[in-house]
Amino acid sequence: MAESSGCGCCCKCCLRLIISIGVLSLIVWLTLRADTPKCSIQYFYLPALNKTLNTPKNNTLLFELRLQNTNKDKGVYYDALNLTFYDNPNRSLSHIIGTYTIPAFYQGHQKKAKRRESVKVNNTLVLGSGLTNGPPVFRVDLATAVRFKNIFWKWKSKRHKLVVAANVEVNEQGVKVNKKGIKLKSGAPENGYCDRAQVGVLLGLMVLVLLNFR
Ligand SMILES: *[C@@H]1O[C@H](CO)[C@@H](O)[C@H](O)[C@H]1NC(C)=O
Ligand SMILES: *[C@@H]1O[C@H](CO)[C@@H](O)[C@H](O)[C@H]1NC(C)=O
Ligand SMILES: *[C@@H]1O[C@H](CO)[C@@H](O)[C@H](O)[C@H]1NC(C)=O
Ligand SMILES: *[C@@H]1O[C@H](CO)[C@@H](O)[C@H](O)[C@H]1NC(C)=O
Ligand SMILES: *[C@@H]1O[C@H](CO)[C@@H](O)[C@H](O)[C@H]1NC(C)=O
Repeated sequence: MAESSGCGCCCKCCLRLIISIGVLSLIVWLTLRADTPKCSIQYFYLPALNKTLNTPKNNTLLFELRLQNTNKDKGVYYDALNLTFYDNPNRSLSHIIGTYTIPAFYQGHQKKAKRRESVKVNNTLVLGSGLTNGPPVFRVDLATAVRFKNIFWKWKSKRHKLVVAANVEVNEQGVKVNKKGIKLKSGAPENGYCDRAQVGVLLGLMVLVLLNFR
């Protein structure tokens, strides 16, 4: 220590410490924060509503769900994905027409998964949808929880709820009107996660290291 003459040095050290902690916090936050997976309905077909086919007794729903992990350095552990299909977008008027569960799975960083599945639905409700006003519009709810794994540090985050929904309008052939995929969205405007506990632990460690090496 060359400059050991009192207050000036101390202030400089303090400032350096504060700036270091600031920069580290930013790095820690950038490392730990995670983007929510993007979920969309790519395909939706109710043969019972295909007017050309004319098979109103066919109670199949064919759908394709796409799940995309956009994180560059995090894998996603999905809990079982609960899908619920309703006959109306309006929550206070709708009835469940069918449910489907996709088993839990792991998705690597920057990976896409597509699941094309079929589910038996309540055709009384399917055929009733849209009879009163305009074309039939259905609702798809997706409820699951996800954990993120940092691929470098192997750290697993805690579980975060992922609850999203989309409205799907179908045409005279029983197929969804939108040519593009329909994004499932949450009511809340949240689109990323960061575990406060992890940030706290990591910052604490870094401050200790900084204090020791000064
Ligand atoms: C609807 O039925 C018609 C007649 O069978 C068929 O040609 C058409 O491909 C069906 N639509 C879809 C989306 O499968
Ligand atoms: C219902 O329609 C689907 C799609 O066209 C078809 O694959 C399936 O065999 C039909 N089911 C019955 C019971 O007719
Ligand atoms: C849903 O239906 C209820 C009851 O008919 C109605 O009061 C409400 O305005 C509807 N909500 C929407 C968003 O259409
Ligand atoms: C379909 O829904 C209607 C109306 O909610 C109900 O009365 C009927 O029992 C349901 N059918 C089946 C097979 O669940
Ligand atoms: C999904 O459904 C299962 C079985 O009903 C249930 O135990 C689980 O809590 C559900 N998950 C979510 C996120 O709602």
